[in-house]
Amino acid sequence: MKTELKKIDSSHIDEDIVERAAAIIRAGGLVAFPTETVYGLGADALNAEASARIYAAKGRPSDNPLIVHIADFADMERIAEYMPAAARLLADAFWPGPLTMIVRGNDRIPRETTGGMDTVAVRMPSHPVALELIRKSGGYIAAPSANTSGRPSPTLAEHVAEDMDGRIPMILDGGPVGIGIESTIVDLTEKVPMVLRPGYITLDMLKKIIGEVEMDPGIIATDSVTRPKAPGMKYKHYAPRADMILVDGEEEKVVKTINALAKDAEDSGKKVGIIATDETRERYGRGEVVSIGARQDEDAIARHLYRILREFDERNVDVIYSESFATPRIGQAIMNRLLKAAGHQIITV
Ligand code: TXA
Ligand code: MG
Repeated sequence: MKTELKKIDSSHIDEDIVERAAAIIRAGGLVAFPTETVYGLGADALNAEASARIYAAKGRPSDNPLIVHIADFADMERIAEYMPAAARLLADAFWPGPLTMIVRGNDRIPRETTGGMDTVAVRMPSHPVALELIRKSGGYIAAPSANTSGRPSPTLAEHVAEDMDGRIPMILDGGPVGIGIESTIVDLTEKVPMVLRPGYITLDMLKKIIGEVEMDPGIIATDSVTRPKAPGMKYKHYAPRADMILVDGEEEKVVKTINALAKDAEDSGKKVGIIATDETRERYGRGEVVSIGARQDEDAIARHLYRILREFDERNVDVIYSESFATPRIGQAIMNRLLKAAGHQIITV
């Protein structure tokens, strides 16, 4: 299959291009499109065969449910068994935006879309191209991140093309995404709402709107026994091909440790990549050093993370040493992705 890459300007959307993309989705095909978090791989969420094509294109395990993207709150009510009061409150506060809510689904949503679960994850993205595509496609687009299963999520259309070229008919290229890590997922089917995946919308932001909210213990646990509730969070994910090790601690010690590790690795013939910050980049004497941004600029750290992991893959790096970024606001989300990319290898100095 030939993959068409179509540039689209978010501030002057070419309706003809979106209509062509929507026609593919209405006919059961796949289109990759930009959202404010990461690029998505979209299909008609109400069409079981279309959803099945997503799993095939990504090489995704079939028990890992998809997020249903909508453009109108009333469309969520049509696929939910019932609407918890918190859903309306959170939608008013954060939709359209980087928040996914899980509710009990009704039988309008095929089991192929929900990975066999009786709950459904719903999100209203804020990206204008995504919203226009959803509206023109019939209102419900199932979309995981548009990467091959196990690779870092795409933050540029070029990343999507790396993974999906020849597998899907069309990629809408809206340029770099704004946020760079996937949406926060909150499960509203429990008595106390629970965050299953941390993201740009933090626990505190959710608590301000709906009161008590907890974090899935499976997310914070460092043991391998406590399982996360979101099926997708249990897989080694977001991962570069290289071995990755995080180094956490006071800056001086971190730089020293990474320099020593990099020397050992290079001495044994390995190609080394280092994820530094603007503040520390000049202090690494070897390896391919990349700055993720200024240490205080958490938005930049989130936005650059996946691109850097992919670039190290392209340069055939064998081992990546990374500083750690437990920053105040979205630090928990950033560290969650980094720890998974590193398969939980972290050295505290
Ligand atoms: O920002 C995002 O959410 C992006 C963009 C494209 O919207 N999408 C995304 O989808 O990250 P995906 O498929 O890569 O991640 C969805 C996560 C998986 O971990 C999956 O297991 C979980 O959501 N999930 C989906 N439905 C669920 C459900 N009913 N119950 C529990 N977890 C669910
Ligand atoms: Mg994903």
